[in-house]
Amino acid sequence: MKLKIENINKTFLNDKTENKVLENINLEINNGEFVSLLGPSGCGKTTLLTIIGGFQKSEEGKVLLNDKIVTKPGIDRAFVFQNYALFPWKNVKENVMFPLKQQKVPKIEREKKLAELLEIADLKGKEKMYPHQLSGGMKQRVAVIRALACNPEVLLMDEPLGAVDFKMRQNLQEQLENIWTKNKITAIMVTHDVDEAVYMSDRVIVMSRDKGRILEDLKINLDRPRNRHCEEYLDYKDTLTKTLERCYDI
Ligand SMILES: Nc1ncnc2c1ncn2[C@@H]1O[C@H](COP(=O)(O)OP(=O)(O)OP(=O)(O)O)[C@@H](O)[C@H]1O
Ligand SMILES: [Mg+2]
Repeated sequence: MKLKIENINKTFLNDKTENKVLENINLEINNGEFVSLLGPSGCGKTTLLTIIGGFQKSEEGKVLLNDKIVTKPGIDRAFVFQNYALFPWKNVKENVMFPLKQQKVPKIEREKKLAELLEIADLKGKEKMYPHQLSGGMKQRVAVIRALACNPEVLLMDEPLGAVDFKMRQNLQEQLENIWTKNKITAIMVTHDVDEAVYMSDRVIVMSRDKGRILEDLKINLDRPRNRHCEEYLDYKDTLTKTLERCYDI
């Protein structure tokens, strides 16, 4: 067992009113599993992901990674933030290479890795550009490859491809799947895109606005790479869409 989320409770205080966002959330994620989190806006997906990442604390419950309690962020968990969170004063190359420099990876290896990653995200020739000169989709692609650069054990991604265009998005889904398969990473991805969830995931979790309650935990039993047009694939999409529609009645 890789990741255990035990009895997580999280309440925010806004103007003295308590907002209980997560109540008794329990999840077990296996080694090498790819899990997607789906759910309406505000249901607590980012909150849960940041607690797993160690960026926020819950009042109750704990997150265990390989039986060790997560108390803070660590290099074993790479995080792709919903708002990209690139360093504005660093260009594309410096952003992507930052985690490798921190880990003191030799320059030759860094350059090799950079070339590989730029190729994956179709960012070749953009190394010297700064975040403010990039489109939203380009910034997301930089954030994704920066997370991949340090070969994390667990990859936590908050809508990593939300701003990426249709073709590039499918392309990156395939690339991410390749990288995930090769490196046996455990991945948790927040997405609003049902097709993306079915294409990428071993399991899709649907959270509701009722304190993050898990409405569905659906295993996707399809061979990879997946055929987006086969009947079973479309059935999975249909099931998840119906569950999502139910979320809005809660
Ligand atoms: N730091 C904070 N202080 C107060 N309230 C917060 C804070 N962070 C999140 N919330 C509240 O917690 C709830 C869940 O927010 P969260 O960002 O986890 O939702 P989400 O499921 O990621 O939504 P989206 O799909 O829109 O990104 C919301 O009601 C939000 O207003
Ligand atoms: Mg969010």
